[in-house]
Amino acid sequence: MPKTIVTEDGTTMPLVHLNGYVGFESLPCQLVHYCKKQGFQFNLLCVGTTGSGKTTLMESLFNMKLELEPCDTELKSVELKSQVFEVEEGGVKVKLRFVETAGFGGQASVEQSAKTIVDYLDEQYEAYLREELKVSRRLSQYNDTRIHACLYLISATGHGLLTRDLHTLRELSKRVNVIPIIARADTRCKDELVRFKKRVLEELRQNNIDYYTFPTDDEAIKKQNEVLNKLMPFAVVGSTDFVTKEDGSTVRARSYPWGIVEVENEEHCDFVRLREALLRLNVDSLRTRTHKILYEAYRQDRLLKMNMKDGDCGPKMAEAYEQMNSEFKAEMVKKDREFDRIFTERVNQKEADLKRQEELLDLRQRAMEERHEDEMRRVEASIKLAEDELVKLKARDAKKKQKS
Ligand code: GTP
Repeated sequence: MPKTIVTEDGTTMPLVHLNGYVGFESLPCQLVHYCKKQGFQFNLLCVGTTGSGKTTLMESLFNMKLELEPCDTELKSVELKSQVFEVEEGGVKVKLRFVETAGFGGQASVEQSAKTIVDYLDEQYEAYLREELKVSRRLSQYNDTRIHACLYLISATGHGLLTRDLHTLRELSKRVNVIPIIARADTRCKDELVRFKKRVLEELRQNNIDYYTFPTDDEAIKKQNEVLNKLMPFAVVGSTDFVTKEDGSTVRARSYPWGIVEVENEEHCDFVRLREALLRLNVDSLRTRTHKILYEAYRQDRLLKMNMKDGDCGPKMAEAYEQMNSEFKAEMVKKDREFDRIFTERVNQKEADLKRQEELLDLRQRAMEERHEDEMRRVEASIKLAEDELVKLKARDAKKKQKS
């Protein structure tokens, strides 16, 4: 009687031993080869207030120069800016998509700011779902823009989380793998950071905010991930500058009058640990959770809202797809109108600014001209005075000559 095993879906089947070499043990190598050839997509969202160090952190993490413009501090709403790069390391190609918030923590309300980011995340899921529901779908070549991880930058105030942080983190953690990070950790001393981390964790727990924890179900990385989970929220320092130390080595660091803070020194901050957690150990876990848990939840919710049930196919599916398409078109029309409105508003604003500047220039020019005319009048008067004086002198001279 062969031994039986029970699979994950509950099916019982016999476990058969092979009598000789077949060859499918090479499957992992085939997968590695496929991944190298195909490359993969990794999409990272960085959420933080203006100037909190988002771009610097991304540059430090990926050791590359990003040409992202600083955010406009006058923004009335949150906007998402993205950049895509293709990078290659050890023969593995990665298409990196960086998305960062602009105007977060600015003039928009807490609710509206969080909604803008959530809408963006949903749009990426929606685009994938639309591709998935197509008859001729091209998922293997699909430009997948779903966000795999969100680095949420908490300001190192030392006073715990703000209402804005709590609300946004709560909303985001339902849709994306959120990794909380204490930004600009060099602005707090070590003891303060320890207390701050503890406080942030307590507040996240009290508010039932389910941030991402690195998985510990895989024996190969269990121990490392357990250590990394204990470091959350990572307290990091970023820098775009390099400093040459006394021993001749060059390090990424921030210089202060009293010394330097090294980004990649574990004694100085958790940057190296964050990079290890995010890029060296868990890229696949983050991608898998995004697809299997987060996207799946979105998809289920969306299809249920379209009154679809398990087993529906054929006309029902076509109907759902049709509904989705028309919703998408309506959404696009709405967005187009909104875009037109914002564009017209910005053009009007720019025109008004230009007009004001023109008026100001006119005023300045007129004032200069008046000043110039006054000056001319004064000079002409003094010339006239001098000429009169000369005539008088000459007359006096002539009289003197006549007398003598
Ligand atoms: P916006 O895109 O304009 O919102 O800015 P950002 O959040 O991308 O911040 P950015 O990376 O441009 O950094 C803003 C300023 O903060 C720069 O002067 C950085 O040098 C500085 N900065 C970045 N990271 C750190 C850090 O870890 N510690 C300190 N002290 N300053 C930092």
